[in-house]
Amino acid sequence: MKSLSDLLAGNRAWAAGITRADPEFFRRLIGQQAPRYLWIGCSDSRVPANQIVGLLPGEMFVHRNVANLVVHTDLNCLSAIQFSVDVLRVEHVIVCGHYGCGGVLAALRGDRLGLVDNWLRHINDVKATCGEQLAALDGEAARHARLCELNVVEQVVHVAETTVVRDTWAAGRELAIHGWIYDLADGLVRDLGVTLAAGDEIATVAETARRRLAD
Ligand code: CO
Repeated sequence: MKSLSDLLAGNRAWAAGITRADPEFFRRLIGQQAPRYLWIGCSDSRVPANQIVGLLPGEMFVHRNVANLVVHTDLNCLSAIQFSVDVLRVEHVIVCGHYGCGGVLAALRGDRLGLVDNWLRHINDVKATCGEQLAALDGEAARHARLCELNVVEQVVHVAETTVVRDTWAAGRELAIHGWIYDLADGLVRDLGVTLAAGDEIATVAETARRRLAD
């Protein structure tokens, strides 16, 4: 089997570069991680979480899956949320989708890709909720972009509805959930205006965000 020597060489060069710029960098990180942010994003190779927002190792807790979904029974995602919120005490959860998401497009088209279709069924729920808004758009590209945006809004709501986040708010702790979308074309992130900081505003903030997208 071919070895991945180029990746390992890349790693050595990366570590050497960081150490050159800051000799204490790795020693400091051994002690603890104290990230302020949890990032929930797509596994897409073009959307590397830390790089996009210019954060170093230690500064952001990251969970990624196909199409940045937050599924109520997904222990993997729920554990990442619980650990980062309860133990690491992050102050912000960012759900970041991206335009051109292949998972969202497959769901939009009803393509058959294999096992992953079962996972992408969750985007069909978004399609069902926002069907009118999608149908009003002209062409697949516009519907694809809108579904990427609407999917973020729904996943922000899902984060806010978890027991972890509801208990955090009930205890009076500050925690904000944000919905962003990344544009592969220019590398820029846009805030979708669906920031949630309390349990009683979920429905109104989400509905306002959906309506703003439709305007
Ligand atoms: Co994607």
